Amino acid sequence: MGIYQPISMKRIDIPDMGTKEKLAALLGQDLDFREQNSGYASHHFYSFPAKFPPQLPHKFIQALTLPGDVVLDPMMGSGTTVLEAFLTGRQGLGLDIDPLALMLTKTKVTPLKSNLVAQISMAVVQNAAYAVRKDKTSLEGSLQKRWDAKTRAFVDYWFARET
Ligand SMILES: C[S@@+](CC[C@H](N)C(=O)[O-])C[C@H]1O[C@@H](n2cnc3c(N)ncnc32)[C@H](O)[C@@H]1O
Repeated sequence: MGIYQPISMKRIDIPDMGTKEKLAALLGQDLDFREQNSGYASHHFYSFPAKFPPQLPHKFIQALTLPGDVVLDPMMGSGTTVLEAFLTGRQGLGLDIDPLALMLTKTKVTPLKSNLVAQISMAVVQNAAYAVRKDKTSLEGSLQKRWDAKTRAFVDYWFARET
């Protein structure tokens, strides 16, 4: 993974150091975040395998970049780094070969109007409740036909049935 080296080297926490020294200093710090809350913003939207605690990219982004800088994660998974970049006023760029990772990250970093989301969610739940009451058997049948076998196996593996 490339490390974006900003033009200005002025940083708040460990000033007057080159990027290599900053990295060494950061790696020497306590990077155990198990006791901290990792569920803020949309970080807990989905528990992607081997997901970073958000405090980890946060620490590196704060120390190595400035607001407005570009932060690239070329294997972003569920986009923890991209979201942290966004939350700290950087421009987050992410890539991944997994379409689920792309969908998750896009969802996590898209700002939404909460009242509109509440309205739409209510309509979705009402429509779903109506469809279940009306004809549960044909609904289950159309859900089963929705994906090809490979996609269904993928979804069954990664998502709980309720999800
Ligand atoms: C362990 S996950 C990263 C998780 C991420 N740190 C997070 O917090 O969610 C590694 C990711 O690398 C992606 N990946 C593996 N090989 C890749 C490649 N050649 N190009 C792009 N992405 C790749 C995988 O699809 C996977 O999503």
